[in-house]
Amino acid sequence: MAQATATTVTLLLLLFLSSASASVQDYCVADLSAADTPAGYPCKKVTKVTSADFVFAGLTMAGNTSNIIKAAVTPAFVGQFPGVNGLGISVARLDIAPGGVVPLHTHPGASELLVVTQGVIYAGFVDTANNVYVATLKKGEVMVFPQGLLHFQINAGGVTAVAIVTFSSSNPGLQITSFALFANSLPSPVVEKVTFLDDAEVKKLKKVLGGTG
Ligand SMILES: *[C@@H]1O[C@H](CO)[C@@H](O)[C@H](O)[C@H]1NC(C)=O
Repeated sequence: MAQATATTVTLLLLLFLSSASASVQDYCVADLSAADTPAGYPCKKVTKVTSADFVFAGLTMAGNTSNIIKAAVTPAFVGQFPGVNGLGISVARLDIAPGGVVPLHTHPGASELLVVTQGVIYAGFVDTANNVYVATLKKGEVMVFPQGLLHFQINAGGVTAVAIVTFSSSNPGLQITSFALFANSLPSPVVEKVTFLDDAEVKKLKKVLGGTG
C-alpha cells in the first residue's frame, strides 16, 4: 500500500514537472538580430527576456514635425518594441503641427484605432466602393480605420494635434500614396498614364517629394 502511494506521488510529480516544462508559450519577444519573417521574428531566449522588453518609452516625446507634411509618426511597432512580437498589436504616436497632414496612406497589415489626446483632427477613409467616411475628432474621441483602406489625418485646429494610434498587428506596414507615386523612380510618363495627371503636375510633385525620372 505504501509502495503504491509512493508510486502515485512519483507519477503525479513527473506529470507536474513535464507539464510545467511544456507550458504554453506566453510570449515571443522578438530577436531583432534575426530577420523578420511572415510569421514574425524568432523568439529571444526566455532567459534573456527582461521587463524592458515589454516597455516602450518612445511615445512620451513629441515627434519632429519640421518636415514637408508638418507631422510625425513615432512608431512602437515590433522593430522598436520587441515585446509586441506575435501579439497582433502595436501602437504609435501622431503629432500634427498646425497646417500639417498625414497624407493618404494605408497599413496593409492592420486596422487602426486613433484616439485624439490633444487638439482637433479631421480624419477619414475611403472604402473599396469609394464611399467616404470623415469626421472632425476632438480630444478623447476615437475613429477606427479598417485594415488596408486608404485614410488620412489633417490638423483641424490652431494648435499641434496629438493622437495615440493602435494597430491590430505588431507590424502594420505603411504606404503613403503620394510617396509611392512621386517619391521614387517610376518614370513620369508611367505616372501620368496611371494617374491621369499631366506632365507638369507629375514633374512638380516629383520635385517636391524627391522623385526622379
Ligand atoms: C527637426 O528636424 C529638422 C529637419 O530635419 C531639424 O533641422 C531639426 O534640428 C530637428 N529638431 C529637433 C529638435 O530634433
